[in-house]
Amino acid sequence: MPNASSTAGPSNGATDGSKPTESPRRVAVLGATGSIGRNALSVIEASDGRLQAVALSGHRNFDRLVEQAIRLKPRWVVATDAAAAGRHDWSQLPAGTELLKGPKGLEKVAADAGVDVVLAAIVGSTGLASTLAAIGAKKTVALANKETLVMAGPLVRQALGAAACKGHDELLGGGVARLLPVDSEHSAIFQAMRCGGRDEVERVVLTASGGPFRTWSAESLTQVTVDEALAHPTWNMGPKITIDSATMMNKALEIIEAHWLFDLPADKIEVVIHPQSVVHSMVEYVDGSVMAQLGPPDMRLPIQHALEYPHRRSGPAERLDWTQTHRFEFEPADLDRFPALKLGFECAEAGGTSGAVLNAANESAVEAFLEGDLHFTEIVPACRSILESHTFDSDPTLERLVELDRWARQEVQTWACA
Ligand SMILES: NC(=O)c1ccc[n+]([C@@H]2O[C@H](COP(=O)([O-])OP(=O)(O)OC[C@H]3O[C@@H](n4cnc5c(N)ncnc54)[C@H](OP(=O)(O)O)[C@@H]3O)[C@@H](O)[C@H]2O)c1
Repeated sequence: MPNASSTAGPSNGATDGSKPTESPRRVAVLGATGSIGRNALSVIEASDGRLQAVALSGHRNFDRLVEQAIRLKPRWVVATDAAAAGRHDWSQLPAGTELLKGPKGLEKVAADAGVDVVLAAIVGSTGLASTLAAIGAKKTVALANKETLVMAGPLVRQALGAAACKGHDELLGGGVARLLPVDSEHSAIFQAMRCGGRDEVERVVLTASGGPFRTWSAESLTQVTVDEALAHPTWNMGPKITIDSATMMNKALEIIEAHWLFDLPADKIEVVIHPQSVVHSMVEYVDGSVMAQLGPPDMRLPIQHALEYPHRRSGPAERLDWTQTHRFEFEPADLDRFPALKLGFECAEAGGTSGAVLNAANESAVEAFLEGDLHFTEIVPACRSILESHTFDSDPTLERLVELDRWARQEVQTWACA
């Protein structure tokens, strides 16, 4: 396996905080207008020239996209909703920036020779095609879009040539392409895995804030409103992942993500509630030692870790203030009040088509909840019912996954109309 510098584009030279002596790492920020995308741009802008945003994408928030392009002067801007893009006034785009309209533009920039790192920060299964294009073009992919792995974990691993993986550096890709986690929990696990060998890992422990309803009774959960579900206590994120955090489906997706990223069976993955969101996750080794990664709940830190990997640099993320008293609590996850977690473990164990069905059913159910067509407590039962009624395939093709994705979304509509 080549070393990280060679897989992530030109080396950045300086390791002592001085100005870089070599070319910047060229980053395509897919989903630049979203929460992760905006945080990534703040990391890039604070990188002292080590990182350069060469492509930015947005789906419909074109005013923000243009404002970002004026600031960062990328080579490409991709406006994925082609119809909406056709109606927009793009006259303010910088002179050297090329505008690409429609989703194919994502695949084009993800595979272009002028890109070193692709930050996959589009929400939902629409992020899959560009992630696969980036892997196919042997890029380093900084993966925020967990739905890609949940939906198509076996295909992504196959594309990475992951069968040959051995040590911690090879965990995420045995070929030339590389997948680096951006999700804070998986970034923490990735970092903690550097403390020992793969065969010395006893289990990984994913931490979960517990979301806004951590202490709510099962009965009061039936009364949850959209505004209450959108008010996350520790993280400021896009609406879909915020609802997923409230149902704890986000943790279910992360269980499946951890399974595919680290090649871990479901029984080696645990979830523990940690309301402060400071311990981002842990790795327990066979001798009982537990390695954790800590930091404030600020996504700029895991984003920077992925974009600058394997280097650590000073960046814009907040710091823990050790002059203050901190109390860190851990409590067991309640699988009865938050049954989404059970689905996560079941899908990680089953593999095959189950992740794609769960992911699509959940995306569609969250949309229906946000539109007032489904109760909060119906989201997970709808997903379970659809998952149980699908025809399981242990070794699906991409076409089959896409077909099931479409089918599961239609099934949710039946639930929403019932
Ligand atoms: N936010 C976090 O702290 C966090 C943490 C860990 C992992 N993640 C993961 O990161 C991903 C992004 O999350 P987020 O919170 O940043 O979401 P977000 O704020 O909703 O942003 C989503 C981005 O995707 C674009 N987009 C939406 N629909 C699209 C489509 N059909 N085709 C192409 N682009 C589309 C949006 O464009 P417009 O805004 O222009 O419509 C926006 O740029 C998700 O997979 C999430 O699970 C997020």
